[in-house]
Amino acid sequence: MALYAAICLTVLYGLTAATQVDMNDSCRWKCLTFAQLWPGSFCVTFSSKQCRIPKYVTGWTIHGLWPDGKKYCNDTWLLTEEDIDDLQDDLHHYWPSLIKTIAFKFWTNEWHKHGTCATCADSMSCPHKYFSLALQLWTKFSIDAALTAAGINPTCNNSYTYEHFHSALSDLGTHVNLQCYNHKKRQILMQIKIPLSKDLSIGCNTPEENFSKSFYKPCTHKADIYFYPITQHPHNPCP
Ligand SMILES: *[C@@H]1O[C@H](CO)[C@@H](O)[C@H](O)[C@H]1NC(C)=O
Ligand SMILES: *[C@@H]1O[C@H](CO)[C@@H](O)[C@H](O)[C@H]1NC(C)=O
Ligand SMILES: *[C@@H]1O[C@H](CO)[C@@H](O)[C@H](O)[C@H]1NC(C)=O
Ligand SMILES: *[C@@H]1O[C@H](CO)[C@@H](O)[C@H](O)[C@H]1NC(C)=O
Repeated sequence: MALYAAICLTVLYGLTAATQVDMNDSCRWKCLTFAQLWPGSFCVTFSSKQCRIPKYVTGWTIHGLWPDGKKYCNDTWLLTEEDIDDLQDDLHHYWPSLIKTIAFKFWTNEWHKHGTCATCADSMSCPHKYFSLALQLWTKFSIDAALTAAGINPTCNNSYTYEHFHSALSDLGTHVNLQCYNHKKRQILMQIKIPLSKDLSIGCNTPEENFSKSFYKPCTHKADIYFYPITQHPHNPCP
């Protein structure tokens, strides 16, 4: 394990290293979804369950990096604290758990469910590469920067049109998927999914998702979208 971790740690930082195309891998998936959550509205969906936003969380956070259509690919490959030791500070900031007190449990779930299916790609062939790649993608595909640049700031006072969001995020591809939750007859923005190809370029022909059982729904054009602020009252930020 020590040897293995050492190999993994030699990975260079920076997307140039990570974006090398895996032309000859054994992956049985073509597309990845990079999902980011908006903490300002996330806790609204948990009326009774504990949910909190750490003080240092001020923007969009990582939900996960998911190979499409594959889950739980290797039950024996366990995540250890040592695997991601040097990444933990950044992970706490940018990939926090809002509902689990121990963030490592959230990362373990994500690794087990999704990360083990990504190891067929060179860029994600071990836990350290997988988690550091997600952090790099968070920097590269910054939703915070895109929305701020378009003048879209979190507020209770007014809503924004779907088109406003869509054009703000146009650099992230035409298939960026906005997900909302209905709260007090408002649709509130909850999550944004960015489809990526295996070579980590923007866009991929993902099959249409079936939302019939999903908690969040695609945001619709039919109503404006609220972008709730991050407040000290995460269960009810806009009373
Ligand atoms: C790609 O993988 C196949 C099967 O594992 C192997 O036979 C082939 O030599 C590989 N090609 C390259 C360019 O590495
Ligand atoms: C599953 O994980 C183990 C490490 O626990 C590894 O040795 C093995 O190669 C993995 N299997 C696949 C199919 O990736
Ligand atoms: C907008 O709403 C915030 C609370 O989100 C409030 O503090 C602020 O005074 C409001 N601003 C205006 C211009 O109404
Ligand atoms: C979505 O899934 C549900 C069952 O979970 C099924 O009844 C429905 O037909 C599916 N819709 C589409 C468009 O595939």
